[in-house]
Amino acid sequence: MGPSGLAAQPALTYICPMTNDPLKLNGRDGLPKELRVLADLYPREMWEGHKNFPGLTAFWLEMHGKFRSVQDELIDRSQAMLDGNLDPMRYGATTARYSQFLLQGLHGHHNIEDHHYFPWMVELDSRVARAFDILDKDHHALDHYMQSLADSTNAVLKPLQDGKDVREEAAKLLDVQGDFQRFLDRHLTDEEDVIVPLILEYGSQGH
Ligand SMILES: [Fe+2]
Ligand SMILES: [Fe+2]
Repeated sequence: MGPSGLAAQPALTYICPMTNDPLKLNGRDGLPKELRVLADLYPREMWEGHKNFPGLTAFWLEMHGKFRSVQDELIDRSQAMLDGNLDPMRYGATTARYSQFLLQGLHGHHNIEDHHYFPWMVELDSRVARAFDILDKDHHALDHYMQSLADSTNAVLKPLQDGKDVREEAAKLLDVQGDFQRFLDRHLTDEEDVIVPLILEYGSQGH
């Protein structure tokens, strides 16, 4: 584990606004029906067999799969340490490495979506254009959760380096990791239901 703390890459100051938006990341259980017109035409079972699936779609889903699996690893390790089944220093080393991978990877992934893929895709089909407002707001909300994950991870790593007992901090981190997993999965799943049907319908030439 390195001496420097984790940053959410870069330091983020975004504060989630208090709104009653029913479509906000922590307030919805899927896309609204009217934005599922293409998702209903292209159910998940048919994605892989479609001629437009290889390439961009496959790559995108693979990235999402990596984010999901590294979160599973982080949560498993926090639980194992709290159960006394993982040496704390080993726990710290892997938690630092995996958290850094997750936060840096997500930061880069959101960047390319915001600046390259979403501006292109929002023009493809006016029936689902509003979904990109939801995804964009998700990215801002996730900035906040990424900062919180980085802070809670650092709250474990720093005292651990000083040889202190970190069970209390690790229990708090496990809660934050659980929330983060839930919110990120909501975003990834809804995003997949927007972008994959769009690529299957319109192709991804030049992207
Ligand atoms: Fe995204
Ligand atoms: Fe994504």
